[in-house]
Amino acid sequence: MPIVDEYIPDRAGRRVVADIADASRTAADGASLAGRPSPRAALGAGGLTATCLRRRAYSLTQRQRRDERGAMKGTATAAMSRYTGRHALITGGARGLGFAAAARLAAEGAAIGLLDKDASAVEAAASRLRDDGRAARAFAADVTSPAEVRRAFDEFEADTGRIDILVNMAGIYPWIEFEDLTLEAWREITAVNLDATFVATHDVLPRMKKHGYGRITTVSSGTSYLGVPEYAAYVAAKAGIIGYTRVLAREGGPHGITANTIMPGLIATEHVLGMREDIDEVFAEIVAQQFVPRRGQPDDIAAAIAYACSEEAGFLTGQVLNVGGVAAYVKPTPPPGMVTEKDPAATLFDSGINDLRCRDGAPLCRHRGRDRPARRVR
Ligand SMILES: NC(=O)c1ccc[n+]([C@@H]2O[C@H](COP(=O)([O-])OP(=O)(O)OC[C@H]3O[C@@H](n4cnc5c(N)ncnc54)[C@H](O)[C@@H]3O)[C@@H](O)[C@H]2O)c1
Repeated sequence: MPIVDEYIPDRAGRRVVADIADASRTAADGASLAGRPSPRAALGAGGLTATCLRRRAYSLTQRQRRDERGAMKGTATAAMSRYTGRHALITGGARGLGFAAAARLAAEGAAIGLLDKDASAVEAAASRLRDDGRAARAFAADVTSPAEVRRAFDEFEADTGRIDILVNMAGIYPWIEFEDLTLEAWREITAVNLDATFVATHDVLPRMKKHGYGRITTVSSGTSYLGVPEYAAYVAAKAGIIGYTRVLAREGGPHGITANTIMPGLIATEHVLGMREDIDEVFAEIVAQQFVPRRGQPDDIAAAIAYACSEEAGFLTGQVLNVGGVAAYVKPTPPPGMVTEKDPAATLFDSGINDLRCRDGAPLCRHRGRDRPARRVR
């Protein structure tokens, strides 16, 4: 039984449902036509009325269908060539997670533009990629400067013809206690971590629209859920990213542009490893709370970015991907029979799980892990 068997033009008057009708003639109930999901499967059979399906069909523009074809192509070809012919710009690409993401996309075929305010480091990073036979160019620019970002993007686009992927990675994360946080410091931190992602995204969006394709991935932080002390401005900025990305996803979707947020847990970049003397203890504490009990590595984040930015992820948008070896960054609810009480030795990253005490005041049940489950009061 055909699902949509009539001519339905898109907004520009083009016929856009021809293959919906074709497919529906042979695949009424979730079977596929030449390996492509039937419209009933794609639109979600069962709960949708015919009117509803027709209305959805209106929004299936040519561009979206190209995107779908890309997804099919992506799954059929080898993973190592996912990014062949794609051009990716990565802010904060000189080191850490930005460089890891760049190396990953480059290894899978993308031409890379690394943008960073550290001129010598970003040039060295691009040379490293080129030494490995990858296509990479460095741009020394401050992401908080719209003029510098525009110049870099113009030059990259002039080289490559188009920008397919933007990874907003540049960030700073200084510790400042709330009462010591001046408005000036607040502005500086939010300028890099939030305003700059707007600047870069705002600049790149029309460029992507021109080609009807784009992947925008912005890096937030698990701290935005946890509310880590001394990180007020950083947390505000990283939480803001999630909100605007959802709006961007809605506005970009009809143009073949997806927007997602990656939310790393604590990751062992050089910067993180050098930021505190007690970093090993901090990691030990956090690893004990993770479902996957090991340190997060830059490649863990790079792999998630590589998926979110791929053609095959064309149906993933407006999402927040937690990549921290846990299901969610939330302060755990005490199990029945337990109460929480602040442990003065708890680290700044402590999410509360180590504050568990038995109701009768018995000793702390520290480091709840596979080998030491939390005690319960009977
Ligand atoms: N490492 C972690 O544990 C972790 C966890 C959650 C989120 N993050 C986020 O991931 C991103 C990268 O973290 P990282 O650990 O790799 O940091 P990093 O300090 O190693 O790298 C950040 C890069 O951004 C660049 N940068 C900073 N300000 C800039 C500006 N104004 N203009 C251009 N470039 C600028 C720096 O020069 C540096 O190369 C940050 O946004 C950070 O908030 C990191």
